[in-house]
Amino acid sequence: MIDSILAALPGDFPWQNQIHWFDTIDSTNTRAKAMARQGAPHGTILIADRQTGGRGRLGRSFHSPAGMGIYMSVLLRPQCPPEALMHLTCAAAVAMCDAVEEVTGIRPGIKWINDLVIGHRKLAGILTELTLGSHSEHVDAAVVGIGINCCQAVSDFPPEIRDMACSLEMALGSPIDRAALAGAMIRHLYRMGNALPQRDQILTRYRRDCVTLGQEISIAQPGLVRHGTALDVDGNGALLVRLPDGQEEAVNSGEVSIRGMYGYL
Ligand code: BTN
Repeated sequence: MIDSILAALPGDFPWQNQIHWFDTIDSTNTRAKAMARQGAPHGTILIADRQTGGRGRLGRSFHSPAGMGIYMSVLLRPQCPPEALMHLTCAAAVAMCDAVEEVTGIRPGIKWINDLVIGHRKLAGILTELTLGSHSEHVDAAVVGIGINCCQAVSDFPPEIRDMACSLEMALGSPIDRAALAGAMIRHLYRMGNALPQRDQILTRYRRDCVTLGQEISIAQPGLVRHGTALDVDGNGALLVRLPDGQEEAVNSGEVSIRGMYGYL
């Protein structure tokens, strides 16, 4: 697999000697953070065929069976404070839409903040984790992990997510070349890493793909579930919501559900 992925990259690709393939791993994000502590460079990529402890946002697990998906993390070493990376998950989401579209012709939507969707079903998730330097206000490592469902049929998903998940093969109705997609993901992550300072352009593209905007939503935060209308994504990637009393609030944590999607009625 690693040879096919490398074949999908230009011969002079700057990160080509930093791509690590694992048949099985606990979590590519967990391992990337460990490698960061040991000094792994900017642009280190980890890809696994299977994860035994794939993690998602809000402490959830990410189902990562062998031969079915792409489970990838990139380690970035941006020399900046964490505030300058508020849009990193948004940037990764747009980059992954670009990669999927390039390889399949299908452009997924983005469900704020970190899910790629096709129709009303989840195709992929993104988990961004920042580590601060011990003696500085700067980010020591930013790990962006992406899991994309590629080859599953409906029956391959566990019953609890069967009605809300989809794969590229389900959407396309034909086989998907995982190595070609992994190569495209790596190339688009490289471009994303260089383009991060262009925050406004990235967020303009994010808003275009974001299927949450204009929708009736619920916002679940610890001890509190509220309803509202999703209006916009602000300059930090937060979701601007109008609440029933007319107040507007920038939401940047918790679970946002869209009516009619993932079984939310
Ligand atoms: C989510 O759905 O909330 C995010 C899922 C992120 C899954 C990816 S798979 C590769 C990387 N390693 C992990 O443990 N998680 C991310």
